[in-house]
Amino acid sequence: MERRTIGAAALAVGAVGLGCMPMSWAYSASRQRGDESLRAVHRALDLGSSLLDTADMYGPFTNELLVGRALKERRPDAFVSTKVGLLVGDQHIVANGRPGYVKRACDASLRRLQTDVIDLYQLHRADPEVPVEETWGAMAELVQAGKVRALGLCAVGARAGRRSGARLHDATIRQLERVQQVFPVSAVEAELSVWSPEALETLLPWCETRGVGFLAAMPLGNGFLTGRLRPGAGFEADDVRARHPRFTAEMMAANQPIVAGLRRVARRHGEHVTPAQVALAWVLAQGPHVVPVPGTKQERWVTENAAAATLRLTTEDLREVAELPPAQGSWD
Ligand SMILES: NC(=O)c1ccc[n+]([C@@H]2O[C@H](COP(=O)([O-])OP(=O)(O)OC[C@H]3O[C@@H](n4cnc5c(N)ncnc54)[C@H](OP(=O)(O)O)[C@@H]3O)[C@@H](O)[C@H]2O)c1
Repeated sequence: MERRTIGAAALAVGAVGLGCMPMSWAYSASRQRGDESLRAVHRALDLGSSLLDTADMYGPFTNELLVGRALKERRPDAFVSTKVGLLVGDQHIVANGRPGYVKRACDASLRRLQTDVIDLYQLHRADPEVPVEETWGAMAELVQAGKVRALGLCAVGARAGRRSGARLHDATIRQLERVQQVFPVSAVEAELSVWSPEALETLLPWCETRGVGFLAAMPLGNGFLTGRLRPGAGFEADDVRARHPRFTAEMMAANQPIVAGLRRVARRHGEHVTPAQVALAWVLAQGPHVVPVPGTKQERWVTENAAAATLRLTTEDLREVAELPPAQGSWD
């Protein structure tokens, strides 16, 4: 698979990564099976999808344990990205950016992942109670201690924190400018997909001009852009899409023209090319520093998604995708 380098530390990874979250968190819990997920991770490593994206809060903790089972056997084949800063309570998820906590959490992640170094350690969310420089400083000490190779910042929560009138990533960019004073940012992880392209406005250019890598979270629009979800079929009660405004039966029906457009482009590239692959190829086309991390628990989807690394969209394809109607259904 094509390799891409992300960030100041010139970290090389396969162009398409693997988001491990659905194996233990967020989607269709009744279909989470440890052994099948493990096979999916091995398949990704076989195909060169080396970037495994996890977090201590996925599960919580069980996703890192699962990834650790693969790393124990295949550490040299993998690039492991995990996250710190969010704690799962009974009723809420809370941020914790206290330096002492960050250091203890890192040691616990290393144990669960069965490795002595984390390739990319990401701040999952900044703690409003702790200056972000303090949290980042503790993370930088982990690099100096050899426990972590590089640091990243997640901006997936930007929607929730946006002030009215501000652009989606204004606050993230201010945060990035602050932490850069303390220690270099190697990668930013934020939502980027055909139906959520906002990162293209300011965040992606910010990363590009500073040599910072960009991990595209939710590149398949939480599964919608694959065309495999039927409007009105419903979701399990604890599936994040059960409460997501774009996943009501009405909005899923209204957004079908986006899937139809991806399918049209796919057809031009061959009868076996899928809308999911076009969605990933579109993300890959946004810059050589961009690495999509499609999430899945299934080996067959890992294989399909990895193959998107060889799909080259033409100028006409990219124009057609750009002209698709904007997504309906908003979080704001
Ligand atoms: N930093 C953050 O705060 C943050 C937040 C969200 C996500 N992320 C990261 O980004 C990764 C990707 O985001 P995501 O998993 O939420 O959303 P996504 O990649 O847009 O979509 C995942 C969903 O698509 C399905 N899928 C994957 N490939 C498919 C294919 N080829 N055909 C049909 N269905 C397919 C999966 O099904 P199955 O579940 O059945 O396999 C899963 O339900 C996560 O895994 C996580 O690592 C980070």
